[in-house]
Amino acid sequence: MTTYEEIFQNNQAWIAQKTSNNKDFFKELAADHNPDYLYIGCSDSRVTAEEVMGLGPGEVFVHRNVANLVNNVDLNVMSVLNYAIKHLNVKHIIVCGHYNCGGVKAAMMPKDMGILNPWLRNIRDVYRHHKAELDAISDQGQRYDRLVELNVVEQCTNIIKTAALQLSYQNTGYPVVHGWVFDIHSGKIIDLNIDFKAILEEIKDIYDLTKS
Ligand code: CO
Repeated sequence: MTTYEEIFQNNQAWIAQKTSNNKDFFKELAADHNPDYLYIGCSDSRVTAEEVMGLGPGEVFVHRNVANLVNNVDLNVMSVLNYAIKHLNVKHIIVCGHYNCGGVKAAMMPKDMGILNPWLRNIRDVYRHHKAELDAISDQGQRYDRLVELNVVEQCTNIIKTAALQLSYQNTGYPVVHGWVFDIHSGKIIDLNIDFKAILEEIKDIYDLTKS
């Protein structure tokens, strides 16, 4: 285990490494915040947002919560989303789930999880929407993996339902929403290749918020 004290030594080493090639590294970092990407992922310690993408400081705006949910009444994720779209003008929004997600696993067990109930309800609702497909998968591990994927697609759809996304996309052609799964067994990022434009079109009848 890395000790608490070692974290500060690590930090000093990191500063030395960052400034060895460019002594103004932190001066430049402090001057501007203009990332092209918003990443919404799981809080799971094994899924490190910047590291798996090979991105450095300043390149990705990050929000993480249990099971990478984009809940309409979660002021936290909605603030992140609106700020990223309206003020940072991000070009891409990524929802990244991961196999072996504890949050998704908990949602698959029909039992009282206390304070987690309302949070997990969002995932249980995803299961209900896709019950026929999921119940047809006999292997429990595969069913679990599929729910992880379907949950990502649902959260992407939740982003596409927002006025901020719809208005920005209508006016600028950005941001585009992507759904990923991080395969914890191999380290690979899997692009689920969601059809962003098709989802945007499909939800219009009910969720079009571009008119006032
Ligand atoms: Co997780």
